[in-house]
Amino acid sequence: MSDLAFPPGFLWGAATAAHQVEGGNVHSDWWAWERKPGTPCVEPSGSACEHYTRYPQDIALLASLGFNTYRFSVEWARVEPSEGAFDKKELEHYRAVVDCVLSHGLTPMVTLNHFTLPRWVAAEGGWTSKRTPALFERYCRRVLEALGDGVPWYCTINEPTAVASGAYVSPWGQPPGVVDIRRWRMAIAGLVDGHKRAVAAIHDVRPGAKAGLAVFSVERKSNAGGKPADEYSLRMNEEVYLEAAADDDFIGVQTYTRHQLYLPRIAAPLTRLALAIRPIERLVVPRVLALETRAPGTQAPAGSRLTQMGWEYRPEALAEVVRRIARFYPEKDLVVTEHGLATLDDRERVEFIGRGLAALHAAMAEGLRVRGYIHWSLIDNFEWAAGYRPKFGLIGVNRETQERTVRPSARYLGEIARTGKLSAELDREQASRG
Ligand code: BGC
Repeated sequence: MSDLAFPPGFLWGAATAAHQVEGGNVHSDWWAWERKPGTPCVEPSGSACEHYTRYPQDIALLASLGFNTYRFSVEWARVEPSEGAFDKKELEHYRAVVDCVLSHGLTPMVTLNHFTLPRWVAAEGGWTSKRTPALFERYCRRVLEALGDGVPWYCTINEPTAVASGAYVSPWGQPPGVVDIRRWRMAIAGLVDGHKRAVAAIHDVRPGAKAGLAVFSVERKSNAGGKPADEYSLRMNEEVYLEAAADDDFIGVQTYTRHQLYLPRIAAPLTRLALAIRPIERLVVPRVLALETRAPGTQAPAGSRLTQMGWEYRPEALAEVVRRIARFYPEKDLVVTEHGLATLDDRERVEFIGRGLAALHAAMAEGLRVRGYIHWSLIDNFEWAAGYRPKFGLIGVNRETQERTVRPSARYLGEIARTGKLSAELDREQASRG
């Protein structure tokens, strides 16, 4: 392989989300849910990685490694812990985070909502409540005003798919963790409305900034028998949200794996029929969508190489997904806002990054408008219901001491970021170390 050069100005970053790293997010729905008996949560988030106070060191580390972008989220539950009571100190805190990012010469990318809701919003029905989109817009406006004009990139809502399907189709992903198709459809409508309102608010308050949705996507493969189920998943877990992004300045692409669905031929007409009969939707839809809501073991055929999450190890999924979304919106900019894996063996992460970027480069050579690559995650963190066991970090975190350990993958990606190229030599070096 010869060197693969990426365009000048390409965003090279790593991402976090408030609830997963900050610690002490006591006013959020997740904080309550983690403690509730009967949920799939294996442990509470607690003090997480203390990023709320340690962000200056974490950001300095990211910059020192050669990256130029930091994606992080603002926590609604902190900013508005009860209805209408905006906490000035919390808004100042996030302004200080932005200033810290800028002072290191990094570009901030801010996510306005990453999965969690204030408890009082959740108590009203979360995204199923008719009031939530307007409340979300009001919160976004306050944040946009508080953060100043130093943030060029905003993601509105992180992976609405995971929020709606995780909460109302699969019983394990997100609170309230029930199967309720009616509420699922209401949540989708609420998320779409909330997203559109947030985009309008960004364009209004910060006309110089770019607004985009962070979309959950997987590479898809199915045979004739699995096709109708696969198409239904694509429709309900991706396209409904892509359609909502018509006014966005960019699409945030988030990919981790490939879903493969091989079913006997007879499954095709049966799935079509079952999906068309409303009264049995409750039984059918959860099964079909188990693909996307990450039921362990549903995505990878026997014998596949798996990550710690039980997902297929498939770095090249990134390029497939980018191609699909570029077909949907040929004129829009795309930014890879998440791509990563959970592993205990950092050599696997180096390989994942190298293979993923090589595949992405090939897709970009076809003329695709990809503006950046942001890895998930900057540091090991609270992986939602799965707790702290999965290790997604370029940087390890010892939760007893809160000590950070820079992994070789962080140096590897940092070097790519610094030079703007995936170098064959670097790859050989890494391979020999491995
Ligand atoms: C989410 C992250 C999560 C990661 C790994 C993405 O869906 O945005 O919050 O930690 O995937 O599961």
